[in-house]
Amino acid sequence: MTDDVDALRVEDLSISYGTAPPSVSGVSLRVRKGEIVGVIGESGSGKSSIALAMMGLLPDSARVTAGRMTVAGAEMQDATERDWEQVRGVKASMVFQEPMAALNPCMRIGAQIAEVLQIHGKTDKRRARARALEILQLVQMPDAEKRLSYYPHQLSGGQRQRVVIAIAVAAGPDLLVADEPTTALDVTVQAQILELIKSLRDETGMGVLFISHDLGVIGQLCERVAVMYRGRVVESGSARRVLEDPRHPYTRALLESIPRPSVPVRSPLAVIPALNDFTEAPAELEEAS
Ligand SMILES: Nc1ncnc2c1ncn2[C@@H]1O[C@H](COP(=O)(O)OP(=O)(O)O)[C@@H](O)[C@H]1O
Ligand SMILES: [Mg+2]
Repeated sequence: MTDDVDALRVEDLSISYGTAPPSVSGVSLRVRKGEIVGVIGESGSGKSSIALAMMGLLPDSARVTAGRMTVAGAEMQDATERDWEQVRGVKASMVFQEPMAALNPCMRIGAQIAEVLQIHGKTDKRRARARALEILQLVQMPDAEKRLSYYPHQLSGGQRQRVVIAIAVAAGPDLLVADEPTTALDVTVQAQILELIKSLRDETGMGVLFISHDLGVIGQLCERVAVMYRGRVVESGSARRVLEDPRHPYTRALLESIPRPSVPVRSPLAVIPALNDFTEAPAELEEAS
């Protein structure tokens, strides 16, 4: 990893599908190496579109424009599929919400990890199994050696997500994009996966773009956060500042909608008001970078 390169830098990113109005407009994001940056917003605000754009994985119907798009040090705004193949899975990789969909159900997990290592030229066939075991241990898989020969269906949801993360970090990427990776997991397992992502960041120095609709998760994990609303970043800054002193009314509404243990069960949760209530942005908003 070169020292002077951000894990991700994108400026003025816009994405539209077909003839529909843009799903993402004028979004700028920066993830420094070793930093975990959160992107939060409700369903449909454009989070996954951004994640997929950063991996060159949007469908052909999507139009992407950006003033600048640097992914793990590579300039990608006019990248071809061949260019993306040099980056994806090697310098930058992605973890999705549903681990089962990312794994091959008919292949033992040790073989799946070994295959990825060989594809990226990180090891030869002879050493692949030993290296797969190391990586499974890196993601703190209990009984890693035994589980090398398991099929995905023999693992719990949390263990499957560990395997997916193992495959994502196998090639030592500079950037990990995680799109709601814990949403399908129960709360205890969710906390373990968040800890794992943090410790992998600490060990490898990779940058992480972490997408969530859950402010609690963002607060636990991220150093900085960008709040998305209807395809735009409406507020960004240090996670602490945004959570303690939210400036945009949408962020405030998001915070108020988090259930707190102290709230009596029967008092209704704050409901996020209808979309048009947030069209006016406050005067001062921090830059995303
Ligand atoms: N493949 C697609 N084709 C057309 N529209 C899409 C596609 N993917 C996403 N969109 C639209 O883009 C908007 C943002 O979606 P998405 O990026 O999935 O948001 P989020 O991840 O925040 O829920 C939505 O209005 C959605 O309908
Ligand atoms: Mg999404």
